[in-house]
Amino acid sequence: MKRSWAEPWKVKMVEHLRVTTRAEREQAIADAGFNTFLLPSRLVYIDLLTDSGTSAMSDVQWAGLMRGDEAYAGSENFYRLEATVRKYYGYKHLIPTHQGRGAEHLLSRLCIREGQYVPGNMYFTTTKLHQELAGGRFVDVIVDEAQDPDNTHPFKGNCDLAKIQRLIDQVGAERVAYLSLETNVNMAGGQPCSLRNIRETCDLCHRHGIPVYLDATRAVENCYFIQQREPGCQSKPLDQILREICDCTDGCTMSAKKDALVNIGGFLALNDDQLAEQARNLVVVYEGLHTYGGLAGRDMEAMAIGIEESVHQEHMHSRIGQVQYLGKKLIEAGVPVVRPIGGHGIFLNAARFLPHVPREQFPAQALSAALYVDSGVRAMERGAVSAGRDKETGENLYPSLELVRLTIPRRVYTQAHMDVTAESVIDLYENRDKIVGLEFVHEPRYLRFFQARFRPASGDRVLRT
Ligand code: F0G
Repeated sequence: MKRSWAEPWKVKMVEHLRVTTRAEREQAIADAGFNTFLLPSRLVYIDLLTDSGTSAMSDVQWAGLMRGDEAYAGSENFYRLEATVRKYYGYKHLIPTHQGRGAEHLLSRLCIREGQYVPGNMYFTTTKLHQELAGGRFVDVIVDEAQDPDNTHPFKGNCDLAKIQRLIDQVGAERVAYLSLETNVNMAGGQPCSLRNIRETCDLCHRHGIPVYLDATRAVENCYFIQQREPGCQSKPLDQILREICDCTDGCTMSAKKDALVNIGGFLALNDDQLAEQARNLVVVYEGLHTYGGLAGRDMEAMAIGIEESVHQEHMHSRIGQVQYLGKKLIEAGVPVVRPIGGHGIFLNAARFLPHVPREQFPAQALSAALYVDSGVRAMERGAVSAGRDKETGENLYPSLELVRLTIPRRVYTQAHMDVTAESVIDLYENRDKIVGLEFVHEPRYLRFFQARFRPASGDRVLRT
């Protein structure tokens, strides 16, 4: 008999949540400039802003904190983490960083020269910004299927080899700094790459002398999809698939706040001895000594244990199972979502959800604010506000995907929380004509989505009664 997914853990401690009134939430979202990033978390009921740093650590990880060796140099926990990264990811050199963007900063500075191109399978906000700040220009080489929320291709994170070849032909391989390969592509909806495509992408780049650096932030989630969907991979354990992915690439940046089940931490991992030496030198300028990179010893210990837990089959089966559960409920109710359902969240197709709100009034921003007003569920805009402005023209970018991300933290919420979330989204969908578009009041220069402020394009409410 087929059994449904269930958590391979039980709850040992609970954290109380505050249930607010609609009037409180209307006031809170107005005070926050209709930006869910600016809400105090004490006024949030179910927090689906991000899966980043929001996971529940296990009792083993908490116990690991007590083994923190807080030496400035050569902490025991660094060596343990180094051995763990070598075992599971396979790279030779480990440079810890305070989180993923710390690693992106180092890699971009070391490997990009002014005017070089950096192809990647869809942009990620911080990754692209660091590439640009280092003088690079991002070029999207993801397959076209990723741009279509209704296309059910099983590997919408794949790179389009023809797009990579075209870039090389146009600008010359020496003007391509490296290819940035993201697993379980966040901005596409948590969509995986196939092992075959990863191999072919790396082969093509390496034939032209172009290195490939993995964004391994959600690589293990990607491994689960490979195991479930890719012919010939069904019997492979997750850790084996992970090694097969990493073995084709030259190194990785990692935000350990996702797959690795910790609240803070990241790393840069490299195979090249010379480049690693340069990175170890640069990390002391921006993060901390090369054996802690901005982390406490205890953080590195929790990360090492989290990496081991992340590749357990039952863990990943229930993690992805919970995301699929919520996605299925919304699909059954006819709510427009990105399909197939991805690994770390449900992505509402805000452009189709709110056809009456023009792109210039940021439908995804409006929908995430309205969802908060309706139920206290906090989501995140992943559309034009996140995309920002064109580096050269200064014009607003309007990506093909205008999405609201309901991101599921790992091991935190219950199935009943998923039910409440679904009820609220479905209610909003039925009352979508009451949602009002937004316009900018304050637009920060970098990564504007974090701190931007808005007002309703008409009236003073984002969700009319
Ligand atoms: N790469 C990917 C694919 C990410 O999703 C993130 C962070 C980073 C790099 C940067 O890592 O936050 O540790 O500095 N994503 C978070 C999110 C912020 O909510 O999707 P970081």
